[in-house]
Amino acid sequence: MASFLGIDVGTSGTKVILMAEDGRILCSRSSGYDVDMPRNGWAEQHPDIWWKGTLEAIQGVLADPSCDKNDIKALGLTGQMHGLVALDKAGTVIRPALLWCDQRTAKQCDEITETVGAERLIKLTSNPALTGFTSPKILWVRENEPENYKKFAAVMLPKDYIRYKLTGDNAGDVSDASGTGLLNVAGRAWSQEVLDKLDINKDWLGKLYESCEVTGTVSGEAAAATGLPKGLPVVAGAGDNAAAAIGTGVARDGSAFVTIGSSGVVFAHATSMTTDPKGRVHTFCSAVPGEWHIMGVILSAGMSLQWFRNNATGGATYAVLDAEAEKSPVGCNRLIFLPYLNGERTPHKDPDSRGVFFGLSSMHTRGDLARAVMEGVSYALKDSLDIINEMGVTVATMTACGGGGGSPFWRKMLADVFGVAVNTVQSQEGPALGAAILAGVGAGTYPSVPEACDILIKSGNDIKPDLAATRAYAGYHRLYKELYGALAGSYKKLAAL
Ligand code: XUL
Repeated sequence: MASFLGIDVGTSGTKVILMAEDGRILCSRSSGYDVDMPRNGWAEQHPDIWWKGTLEAIQGVLADPSCDKNDIKALGLTGQMHGLVALDKAGTVIRPALLWCDQRTAKQCDEITETVGAERLIKLTSNPALTGFTSPKILWVRENEPENYKKFAAVMLPKDYIRYKLTGDNAGDVSDASGTGLLNVAGRAWSQEVLDKLDINKDWLGKLYESCEVTGTVSGEAAAATGLPKGLPVVAGAGDNAAAAIGTGVARDGSAFVTIGSSGVVFAHATSMTTDPKGRVHTFCSAVPGEWHIMGVILSAGMSLQWFRNNATGGATYAVLDAEAEKSPVGCNRLIFLPYLNGERTPHKDPDSRGVFFGLSSMHTRGDLARAVMEGVSYALKDSLDIINEMGVTVATMTACGGGGGSPFWRKMLADVFGVAVNTVQSQEGPALGAAILAGVGAGTYPSVPEACDILIKSGNDIKPDLAATRAYAGYHRLYKELYGALAGSYKKLAAL
């Protein structure tokens, strides 16, 4: 039976899965790595570690007894979005990549907004300039490391660096390119006007494709390094959220997902394009050709609980923290956590904001604190859902995925905080599965992306919201929103100290 590979170049590791044509996951392998944080607010990774992780994970999958190399018909790529990978003319990486969660570019965002014009920028790229996006990172290198900037010959996103290593092509897809700040999201092409105004060379950027199109094939050199068959077709793939949507069956209007990975996302599919004039949520191209999605992104979702676990619990397991948190009531005995550990994107666009426990009392237990972290992340995600609803995009079904989405306790909390039923899908492979499905569409095995989702994605059970809990959470959410307003000026002062 035909099979397809999905490669997810994530922030905490690279994962490779092998999916059979009938949707069974035959095997999967991951290879982990760390994020370098050389300064408060900075986040970097050297692309070499992604390639090393990809090699290890591919070789692990190929060595698995379930894998018959001859059955593999195509490969799809996905990965962390927005990262700046810069290569010189020999194809060598110039400096470590600046990642999606790096917050050093506030000044460059202001410069972009001023140069292009705030309204014009949203008109052209559907989004404002945000510290996480790629274009301010390019300007940061130009202003701070002119020696490195002089060497720029190609600029690519993380998963597209892996494509470059596999095929030799500088190419990408429109969903991931939407997060560069350089794409005309409505026209699905690089914006010449933005490139001209920012004086960025278009020749550095990859050729663009829809997510299920084939961009090239595995080269002889990459075949020797990976063990993959030479000539294996590689499809464009998608940014991790657009691919997660396909892996959870979110490919038609009315469907949405929420994910708690390192970052947290609320994502709704949209056949027609709508933009938030205030730029609080992103409008990006979808992995479904010719369609879009609206998404709110919070920067420290699972990362908030991971931070709490690693630094304040002596390494308790997540299962233990879930159980302790479950004993604490809604509102955690009047304790609220703001999850802005690394600044925030949706809805505040504030790189200087930071985390807060508000209302700490000597009566609070570790369970109260753990629950407050989970509730704070859930309120932050609700902020995104509220904006999406405000834009007139209807969410009829919401699917939970990602690490936090795997916790039944957290899923129930999301259903209660959102006031909507939250379901799951049977496979939790998310973005990697989406990439494998896109490979299957590219190979011609499935007729279209939405139809492939209908065939392959199996839903789990709905968790219905408890209306009394929804009402109780709403009161805390109101106060949660007030806290950012009260602290916004103090965050600026803290950053200036
Ligand atoms: C999306 C975003 C994150 C990263 C994490 O805009 O910044 O979800 O893609 O991998």
